[in-house]
Amino acid sequence: MRVTITGGAGFLGRKVAGRLATMGKLGKRDITAMTLFDVAEPKPPAGAAFPVACLTGDIADPADAARLVDAGTGVVIHLAAVVSAQAEADFDLGWHVNLDGTRTLLEACRASGAKPRVVFTSSVATFSGGQEAVIDEATRPVPGNSYGAQKAAGELLIHDYSRKGYIDGVSLRLPTVVVRPGRPNRAASSFASSILREPFLGEEAFLPVPESFALWIASPRAATDWLIHAATLDGKALGLDRGINPPGLTVTVRDMMEVLQSVGGHAAMRLVSRVEDKEVEAIVGTWPARFRDARAKALGFRAHEGLEALVRAFLEDDLAETKALRG
Ligand SMILES: NC(=O)c1ccc[n+]([C@@H]2O[C@H](COP(=O)([O-])OP(=O)(O)OC[C@H]3O[C@@H](n4cnc5c(N)ncnc54)[C@H](O)[C@@H]3O)[C@@H](O)[C@H]2O)c1
Repeated sequence: MRVTITGGAGFLGRKVAGRLATMGKLGKRDITAMTLFDVAEPKPPAGAAFPVACLTGDIADPADAARLVDAGTGVVIHLAAVVSAQAEADFDLGWHVNLDGTRTLLEACRASGAKPRVVFTSSVATFSGGQEAVIDEATRPVPGNSYGAQKAAGELLIHDYSRKGYIDGVSLRLPTVVVRPGRPNRAASSFASSILREPFLGEEAFLPVPESFALWIASPRAATDWLIHAATLDGKALGLDRGINPPGLTVTVRDMMEVLQSVGGHAAMRLVSRVEDKEVEAIVGTWPARFRDARAKALGFRAHEGLEALVRAFLEDDLAETKALRG
């Protein structure tokens, strides 16, 4: 079968494509071809034993989306998106990519007749309630920003296209993925990666929230595992409810600083300083940090490793590439 990854030049797109190239199959099905799609040119993953088509375009353009799915497409991992702070700053672009793009892709899936598994990356940002909230499967999404609203609307599309049998969809509400390699991005939560990345490069990082601030996070390894598990999960086990809160990790900024000190030493910790940023606080302040994850675990999503393992995985998997990128 063909596997298509939108947002294939992005952070998680590259991780998932790399992992699939190593695995060569998804569940019992061999991967015979892969399509990577993005506005920026994707690169084929190393070591793929199947052909990889790297396409560029706009996911909200029906002609571009039509090139991504055919009768042999078994799985579509939909990662293309405008991230939180950018979607908040540019209202039109956010809705264009995050909602119109998702609908356009689903229409291409429907037209193909392939009924593929579509894995949609939703977000913690579909919820609000902030530091006080505890989210379970029954919590109503009341987004506190445009990005969260766009993701919640995308989930409803996944739900209804699945109910109609046009796709077999899964929406994963990803926590903030930390440590993001490379450069800071335009996600409001970008600081959560910066404070665990910049000090290992000998650079300063700035903290826009107090140390008591709690976040719901996941490592790139866990997020990749979950995306792959979601691609093979039995759709019947989900029933009508296609949205899943995977088992992330609740940590405070203080926990992160303690791990930074134990792994990177005092010198690393001294590179982080508190600088107020009301705009960032306004966005991330609405995101809940505590989730009940019994359903995800019952569905076989693996539990998260601890915070120190997450930091050490960044040093192992991504520090060298990040250093090379920064020159
Ligand atoms: N990384 C996180 O912390 C996190 C948390 C929750 C949800 N998510 C979601 O997971 C997905 C992947 O996240 P990521 O961190 O890899 O993001 P990313 O920004 O690294 O990748 C997204 C990719 O989408 C591409 N893109 C943007 N507009 C496009 C368009 N019109 N057409 C085609 N491609 C377009 C971008 O060029 C980028 O490469 C996104 O949907 C994001 O909203 C991520």
